Amino acid sequence: MERLQKVIALSGYCSRRKAEELISLGKVKVNGKIVIEMGTKVDSMDYIEVEGHPIEQMEDKVYYLLNKPRGVVTTAKDEKGRKTVVDLVKTSKRIYPVGRLDYDTTGLIILTNDGELTNFLTHPKNNIEKVYVAKIKGLITKDEIRRLCNGVYIDGKKTSKAKAKILKIDKKTNSSVVELIIHEGKNHQVKNMFKAIGYDVLKLKRESIAFLTLDGVPSGEYRQLSIKEVKKLYGEKNNQE
Ligand code: URA
Repeated sequence: MERLQKVIALSGYCSRRKAEELISLGKVKVNGKIVIEMGTKVDSMDYIEVEGHPIEQMEDKVYYLLNKPRGVVTTAKDEKGRKTVVDLVKTSKRIYPVGRLDYDTTGLIILTNDGELTNFLTHPKNNIEKVYVAKIKGLITKDEIRRLCNGVYIDGKKTSKAKAKILKIDKKTNSSVVELIIHEGKNHQVKNMFKAIGYDVLKLKRESIAFLTLDGVPSGEYRQLSIKEVKKLYGEKNNQE
């Protein structure tokens, strides 16, 4: 059971605040009856109309966008008892992370109980774009950036085409900051790509997946995705390869 205004907002119809306004104005019906009580709870079987428009519900599927902090493992359960990404999200549903970020990597990760979306986002043929920002040890050159873009060899296999640009070169600390955009998601992919051209990654953050960014979600916090966002993700196939 969820609060009515939250269900309306998650459908993508309007913001939660606007939904509260529409409820108080008597513009929302649940199972054909006007509801003006703010705390009203509904479930996926309830038929909700806002200003005469039926609202789509997500049934039992849930989708969260988490800004993963450092020092958290990307599994549902850790044998060593360390904190996991799932521990950071308050839900009664059994969710799991889509793909993985290393223990020391921060940034955007999706958690869901929707296996179909997980397969869609992680299957290489769908070319889902992921943007990383890496701080590396040493001063990278434009030539090396070109090598990253054209593909480098990891365990004898060439990585597919990527986009990369230098964000900062810091001679004082002998480090560089690079934005790397890739479509693949093999284990330690970014760290291994830099290793292939002779650099160690000091810090790594995933800034975005497809059109989803960390905007408005501080480190360690999360938000739910709306139905609109989930549908947009399914339509996100990127065929640039
Ligand atoms: N690539 C890595 O090397 N580590 C991550 O956590 C994500 C991508």
